[in-house]
Amino acid sequence: MIKKASRLNKFGEYYFSKKLREVAQLKAEGLDVINLGIGSPDLSPPQEAIDALTQAANQAGAHQYQSYRGVPELREAAADWYVRNFGVTLNLADEILPLIGSKEGIFHLSMAYLEAGDVVLVPDPGYPAYTNCAKLADATPLPYDLKAENGWLPDLAALEKHLPENAKMMWVNYPHMPTGARATQAFFAELIEFGLRHNILICHDNPYCFILNDEPMSILNHPKAKQIAVELNSLSKSYNMAGWRVGMLCGAAEYLSAAQQVSSNIGSGMFKPAQLAAAAVLRLEQSWFDSLNVQYQERKIIAAQLLQTLGCEAEPEQSGMFIWAKAPSNIDDIEVWLDRILHDTGVFLTPGFIFGNNGARYVRVSLCNTVEVLGEALERMKDFGN
Ligand SMILES: Cc1ncc(COP(=O)(O)O)c(C=O)c1O
Repeated sequence: MIKKASRLNKFGEYYFSKKLREVAQLKAEGLDVINLGIGSPDLSPPQEAIDALTQAANQAGAHQYQSYRGVPELREAAADWYVRNFGVTLNLADEILPLIGSKEGIFHLSMAYLEAGDVVLVPDPGYPAYTNCAKLADATPLPYDLKAENGWLPDLAALEKHLPENAKMMWVNYPHMPTGARATQAFFAELIEFGLRHNILICHDNPYCFILNDEPMSILNHPKAKQIAVELNSLSKSYNMAGWRVGMLCGAAEYLSAAQQVSSNIGSGMFKPAQLAAAAVLRLEQSWFDSLNVQYQERKIIAAQLLQTLGCEAEPEQSGMFIWAKAPSNIDDIEVWLDRILHDTGVFLTPGFIFGNNGARYVRVSLCNTVEVLGEALERMKDFGN
C-alpha cells in the first residue's frame, strides 16, 4: 500500500462517519434507531426550486461547464437577497462568489489565506471543519472559549491578552452551531475592530440565519466590515436544500478572488439548473421562512420535553436546527451515557465533546425529524432510567 500524506495524521475520521457505521450495525441487528444526531433538513425544498431545476435542465447549454463565478441570475438574486434581508449592498460583479455549499468555502478560505506558521482562531465549541481545514492548510488552529455565562460569545478582551502575533484568521458563526446562540450588531462591531486592530481576517459562517431566528443578521452590515470580514451563507438549511450544494461567499473582491483562485483549480463551476433553482428560491418572500419556522417550533417543543425527561437543561431561546442542552450533573461520562441511551432506547443523540472541550458536558438534539418521530423518541426516554 502507498503511504498516506502525513497531513492526514493531524485529524481522525469525522465523528459521524464512524458513529453512523455503529448505528447502521445496530439497525442491521434489529434495533429500531431514531437518529436525532445529524442536522440534515428532512423537509421539502420550495416547489419553485424543483420547477426551476426541471425547466432549466431542458435549456441549451445547461449541462456544460459553467462560469467559475456562478451564473449572473444567481449572483443577482443573491445580491438582492442580501439587500432585502440584511441591508447589505454587494457588488454583483465581484462581491458574491457562489459555492458548492458553504463548507467548501471554509476549505477555500483556509487554503487561500493560511500556511505553516499561521494561527487560526476557532470557536470551542464549534463546527469541526474550521479546525480541520486549518490543519489541511498546515496552519495551527487555536480554540477560543465560548461559555454559557457569556452567552456563548467570545470574550475579546481576554482573547486579546494572549493573542499570538501570528494569528491571521478567526472563525465565527452566529447563530452558533451547536449552542444556538445569537450575536448582536454591537458584538459584530467589536469583532470588526478587533480584526482591524490585529490584522485578522474575520470569517463569519452564517448558514443558520433564518432558522428560529427573528433577527437575521450579516456581519457585512457594518460599514467597515468589508475591510476585514467575509461571510459564508448557504441554502442548505434556509431552503431545505442541503443535498443541492449551494452556498456563497460574500465580501470584498480581493478576498473573494483569492478564494476563487483556489476553487477554480479544484472545481469547474456549478450545475446550471441548480444555480437557477437557487436564484428562484432566493427571491421567495418572508412567508417561506415563516412557515418553515412554524414546523421547527413545533419540533423544538417536543425535543425540549425529551431533553427535560433526561434531566438535561436547555436555554429556551436558541436559534438554528438543534437544541443544545447541559447533561445532568450526576452523569460522569456523557459518551457512555449516550451510548447507553442508544443501546437501550435506539435514540441517537450527539455528544457535545465532538465540538470541543467546552461542549464536554452537553448534548445536541437535531430538529430534522417529524413531530411523530420526535414524539416516539420522547416516549422511549420516559422508559429510560438514568
Ligand atoms: C456551522 C456550519 N457551517 C457550515 C455548514 C455547511 O453547510 P453547507 O451545507 O452549506 O456546506 C454546516 C453544516 O452542517 C454548519 O453546521
